[in-house]
Amino acid sequence: MRATITAIAHHVPEAVFDNHWFESRLDTTDEWIQSRTGIRERHFAFEGGLSDILVPSALEALSRRGLRPEDVELIIVATVTGDRVFPSTASIIQNKIGAVNAWGFDLAGACSGFLYALITAAKMVESGTIKNVLLCSGDKMSAITNFEDRSTCVLFGDGGGCLVIEPTDDNSIGIIDYVLKMDGRGEPHLHQKAGGSLRPPSIETVTNREHFVYQDGKTVFKSAVIGMADASHEIMVRNGLEAKDIAWLIPHQANLRIIDATAQRMGLTKDKVMVNIDRYGNTTAGTIPICISELYEQRKIQKGDALVLSSFGAGYTWGAILVRWGLEKMQ
Ligand code: UT7
Repeated sequence: MRATITAIAHHVPEAVFDNHWFESRLDTTDEWIQSRTGIRERHFAFEGGLSDILVPSALEALSRRGLRPEDVELIIVATVTGDRVFPSTASIIQNKIGAVNAWGFDLAGACSGFLYALITAAKMVESGTIKNVLLCSGDKMSAITNFEDRSTCVLFGDGGGCLVIEPTDDNSIGIIDYVLKMDGRGEPHLHQKAGGSLRPPSIETVTNREHFVYQDGKTVFKSAVIGMADASHEIMVRNGLEAKDIAWLIPHQANLRIIDATAQRMGLTKDKVMVNIDRYGNTTAGTIPICISELYEQRKIQKGDALVLSSFGAGYTWGAILVRWGLEKMQ
């Protein structure tokens, strides 16, 4: 039995902040941000938690599939910015949407959270014990962004998407194959210094602004370029695919230069690469579901299309997934 995506929707907060908003607060320029990252604007929600970003798309995805919240069996939330440390945002979403028969959990895979969660969901469904998973994936990065640090604050945004994953007996579609990796030696280069059990919140951690993303951008960049390109290439080779066989590369949106390097390694032309970093920045676990949902809503993917999803992020965590799209074009 194979698992397939049977519905998808996305949501971002309304408020848009363009690069000029940062120019007026920090020593930065629109030119620097666009040329180094590809980002033009991003959305921030200064009120509410991650669940408030994910609930609208959870309800929309269920409605597109014709499911009621009480039909949901399992909720997985991929994020590093859950509403609280505990309980899980999965349980908060369960309560907010009324998915009274579901159990669930959160999964912290950072920028690769969506890939990790998609394979976890697929394997649960393939086991035959779970008939459907509501997979919610996104981040409210504004909650952990230091708006005084120009090297990180211009990079991130808030947003996410939700999918329904179900079994299919159609062998021509589904979540086909995956390459998932992790290298914990990446921890020093990308992390949040305080707030966990190692360094609980204190006046000192707050004063030192340790509850925010810390990133050594250049070091992460070098590993990301190699990791994302290698994993994406490996999934192609393993499945006997050439560039012409792939409909879309759907990459994590952290930096346009990393995306370009991955596409180049795969031999793909730009028209086969989904890019929306210019409008959303890096929404961490939100980037890939937002990309897929936008492609679907724009009627740019059709049943049977080969999609390569790929990512690189904190951990380090990275990987690529091959999906054969199973939905007809959106009506
Ligand atoms: O999604 C999770 C995984 N994360 C990633 O994949 C991100 C990987 N890293 C990156 O995308 C890039 O490294 C950044 C976009 C974060 C930075 O780009 P870069 O080309 O690596 O720049 P840099 O960090 O080497 O900085 C170059 C210069 C520095 O000035 P000096 O030392 O050359 O005088 C920085 O201080 O740019 C300066 N700089 C800025 N200047 C204007 C850093 N941030 C800014 C800024 N505006 N916002």
